[in-house]
Amino acid sequence: MDGMGSYARGFKLLTGGANHALAEEIARGLNVELCKVTTSRFADGEIFVRIDENIRGHDVFIVQPTNPPAENILELMLLIDAARRASAARITCVMPYYGYSRQDRKDQPRVAIGAKLVANLIQVAGADRVLGIDFHQHQLQGFFDIPVDHLYALPVFVSHYRKKILKDLVVVAPDAGSAKMARGFAKRLNATFAIIDKRRPAANVAEVVNVVGEVADRDCLIPDDMIDTAGTVSEASRALKALGARDIYVCATHALLSGPAMERLANAPIAEVAVTDTIAIPPDRRFDRLKVLSVGELLSKAIRYTHSEQSVSSLFD
Ligand code: R5P
Repeated sequence: MDGMGSYARGFKLLTGGANHALAEEIARGLNVELCKVTTSRFADGEIFVRIDENIRGHDVFIVQPTNPPAENILELMLLIDAARRASAARITCVMPYYGYSRQDRKDQPRVAIGAKLVANLIQVAGADRVLGIDFHQHQLQGFFDIPVDHLYALPVFVSHYRKKILKDLVVVAPDAGSAKMARGFAKRLNATFAIIDKRRPAANVAEVVNVVGEVADRDCLIPDDMIDTAGTVSEASRALKALGARDIYVCATHALLSGPAMERLANAPIAEVAVTDTIAIPPDRRFDRLKVLSVGELLSKAIRYTHSEQSVSSLFD
């Protein structure tokens, strides 16, 4: 396919340091080079960024997931600010993972709404559009007053599972929040549906109260938007096994894999954990049963369509 030089307006793809490999994959899909950026640190640790190419009047896309450390967010802000001050015509924040998105409401007294704050920061820095994948809640799009294209990793996972021979598959939502996503998987994989009644006695602690649906003697697929400490999926897989489930597969778009996640996944009765590369996964977080699928092609297409002012809605499904 052609690079992006054939369109009327110039095109630039920039990246911060949070997920360079994904940005390179996107650049390959678009047949372009990443725009040159210098990133360095002051002696006290402050981040410095400089865009080393002329981007005046260009359509600029900045790739940066905002998973911890929080400096990923700051680097994104600095890149957006630098692009705006360098007279970019339009700036799209390509945020494959929306960090702080779980803090989306005031559910206790005197807490911050981190998801809204991050949305505000992105807009104040100067972004004109946002391109994201599997927000923790779809309605987080409404936290932005600029256009948001919200993609799903579901097609990437579905084509992976269609290549497997799965027997009497049941898709199991690990909690009420994942029910809609799980139904989407069940429909496309021609599977039945079950749901787990999950309780969170404390943050990052997951407890299975009940499984609603038939799982005995069936292969199970547990889809989720993210695996953080892996409490949710490891507890879910144990509960399914205890009810006589056959092979258990887990998939999640965002692989945070923090704290005890590796140990929990190693000890859980899970045949394979499939995740995407929205977040960079360091070598020490990889293991034999982990399958990493790329969202690079999906994002390349979305960026290409956005730049050429074509509809991206075919990618939403
Ligand atoms: C919950 O609302 C989310 O969809 C995930 O199930 C959850 O954030 C995963 O966290 P952990 O892996 O720590 O259980």
